[in-house]
Parts: sequence; C-alpha cells; structure tokens
Amino acid sequence: MKKTMAHLHEKKNNGQKIVMLTCYDYRTAVLQEQAGVDVIFVGDSVGTNVLGYGRETEVTLDEILYHLKMVKRGVHDAYLLADMPYRTYEEPEMALMTANKLLAQGADGVKLEGMQAPVIELLHEHGIEVWAHLGYNPQFHENVAAQGKTFEDAAVLVEGALELQQAGACMLVLELIPEELADIVTKRLSIPTIGIAAGRHTDGQVLIVHDMLGMNPQKLRHVKPYFNFNEQALQAFHAYAEEVRQCQFPEEMHVRHMKESELRRVEE
Ligand code: KIV
Ligand code: NA
Repeated sequence: MKKTMAHLHEKKNNGQKIVMLTCYDYRTAVLQEQAGVDVIFVGDSVGTNVLGYGRETEVTLDEILYHLKMVKRGVHDAYLLADMPYRTYEEPEMALMTANKLLAQGADGVKLEGMQAPVIELLHEHGIEVWAHLGYNPQFHENVAAQGKTFEDAAVLVEGALELQQAGACMLVLELIPEELADIVTKRLSIPTIGIAAGRHTDGQVLIVHDMLGMNPQKLRHVKPYFNFNEQALQAFHAYAEEVRQCQFPEEMHVRHMKESELRRVEE
C-alpha cells in the first residue's frame, strides 16, 4: 500500500518510528522498498556521495531530476522525497517551478533547508507537500558544526520550527542538534520530525545510505555501520584482478561451447 503523508502523520500520533534513507539509484531503491523503508529520499548528498563533488551546493536541479527518475523506477509503496538543490528556491515563484519539476518526475514531496516560510506558504497553497530542514543545513553552513547548543540558539530553533509548521511544512528534518533539543521540538510540533545526528527522540530517523552501508571511509559519530561495503568490495576487486591475471577466471562453469559439428565447419 502506498505510504502517504497521512500515513506518516499517523505514525507520529501512534508513536511508531518513521524509517527514512537516502537513495540515488534504481537498484538501491528496489532493495529499500523490499526492506519496507517508509521514506526514500533523493537528497543533494548525491553530490558528495555519488558525483564526487566537494559540497552539496554544487548539485544542480538537472542532477537531482536525473537521479530521481532512476530511483522512481524502483519505488512503489514508499513515500518518495526529493531535495530542492541550492539556489533553486530563492524566490517563492522559482521554488514553485522547481517543486513542480520534481513532482512531475514522481516525487511525492520536496525538501528545502532553512527558514523559508514564504516559500513554504506558496508551495503549501499549491497543495505541495513541503518538508523543512533545520539545525545544520549543508547548503548554507560553511562548516559542519552542531547547532542549537546554547539556550539562545535552541530558542531560535524551536521558534523557527513552529513558524515553518505554521507556514505549512508537513515534516521537519532535524540535523546535528543535541538530543534534548530534538526531543523538545518533536514534542512541541504536531508534524513529525526526522532526525539525523539528532538523537533518539525524533519521530523518525534518516541516514545517508553510503554512510550506513560502510561506503564512506569517514567515520561519523551519528552513523552505525550496518555493512562494511568498502572492505568487501575492495576484497572482491582484488580477488577478481588476481584471478584474471592467474587465468583462474573464467572457469568451465562460466563459459558456453559450440556443437562439435558447427565448430568443425567454422574451423574449415
Ligand atoms: O541530502 C541529504 O542527504 C539530506 C539529509 C542529511 C537529511 O538532506
Ligand atoms: Na540535503
């Protein structure tokens, strides 16, 4: 059954956690769908994890659309979320165009970063499901640093979250803030919160798929490595290279043969 925004809100109200992962390609989407992930998210983290960029700000709308299309082919029941890239929502009208392009390629909702109440209001008026994102915002913060650690910063964040909910945001991603603050925001809001590096008390969790599969050599405090992809893949590449060089691959079981009679005619 298709997971709608109503389902996600129901989960908050029933105290059930929402499961979200980033995803950038078809095959991964199929697996996440099979595993019953609630929200499959084409994030602009595609830039640093797949495209080899230094920062999320380098990702273009065309690149998000390209990855959204391949992910969409693998998604059936999960809620499909797409990121609005840097500088594609500077004005409400511009944001509306961006969001419509993402929805046209199958996104169920769009996410943007920071205090963008007027943008959220316009999209909401057009019936678009807008996800907000507060705390550390990779598109706008130069350096990775935890947000909301002092009373003043925490108060600004709580007020900001309430304002964005009021503007019509239907979900809120909280990134890199203290667990206590995420807990307070989660209790104050009627919309669900999804945390990344925001502790245990948000309504759901999101991780970057490359981080949780062990594809990112960087060790991050908030990440649990559920798989050691890089180790396994490197071993596989070494084994393949060695076996090709030693003529141990391919073997009899991997090859096809011609019929004796046909072979003789070719050899003649
Ligand atoms: O692009 C992304 O992966 C994100 C998550 C960190 C929420 O925005
Ligand atoms: Na993002």
